[in-house]
Amino acid sequence: MVKVLFVCLGNICRSPTAEGVFRKLLASEKIEPLVLVDSAGTHAYHVGEPPDRRAQEAALRRGINLSNLKGRRAEHSDIEEFDYVLAMDSENYHNLMDIAGDQGHKVRLLMEYSSNYEACDVPDPYFGGVNGFEKVLDMIEDAAVGLLQDIRRAHSI
Ligand code: 4NP
Repeated sequence: MVKVLFVCLGNICRSPTAEGVFRKLLASEKIEPLVLVDSAGTHAYHVGEPPDRRAQEAALRRGINLSNLKGRRAEHSDIEEFDYVLAMDSENYHNLMDIAGDQGHKVRLLMEYSSNYEACDVPDPYFGGVNGFEKVLDMIEDAAVGLLQDIRRAHSI
C-alpha cells in the first residue's frame, strides 16, 4: 500500500480538494485499493471542520464529494507514516520541513508533478472569489496525473 498525504495551511480548501481529485483519479484507473490518500493542514485553525463550502461546491461541479472530510493538523508521525507528503505551496513545504526531522526526503511540492503549469505554488483561495477555487482544481488535476505516473513507476502498480 502506497500512502499519499496532501498538505495545505488550513486543510479546508486546497488539500481536501487534492485528496478528492486524487481519489477520483485512482478510482478511474481502478487502483483505489492500492493507494491510501489523506490530507492535513500545517495550522490548527480549522481542525474538525468540513471543507470550505466554496471548495465543496467547486469540487461537486466536477463530480467530487468532499462533504465527509474533516480538518486535521499534520504531525511528525504523518511524515513517518506516509510515503509521499505533498505540500500545496512553499510556505507549507517549509512548515513541513520544520517538523520532518530525518524524513524530509518524503516532502515535496505537489506542483513539481505538473506538466502544464510552471508555478511552484497552488495559490491560497481562501480570501478570494469562486475563480480561485476553479484555478485550484485545474492546477491540482494537472499535477495529480504526473503524481500518479510517478507512483505507478516507482511502485510498479
Ligand atoms: P487552505 O486555505 O490552506 O487551502 O485550507 C486556507 C484556509 C483557511 C485559512 C487560510 C488558508 N485561514 O487563514 O483561516
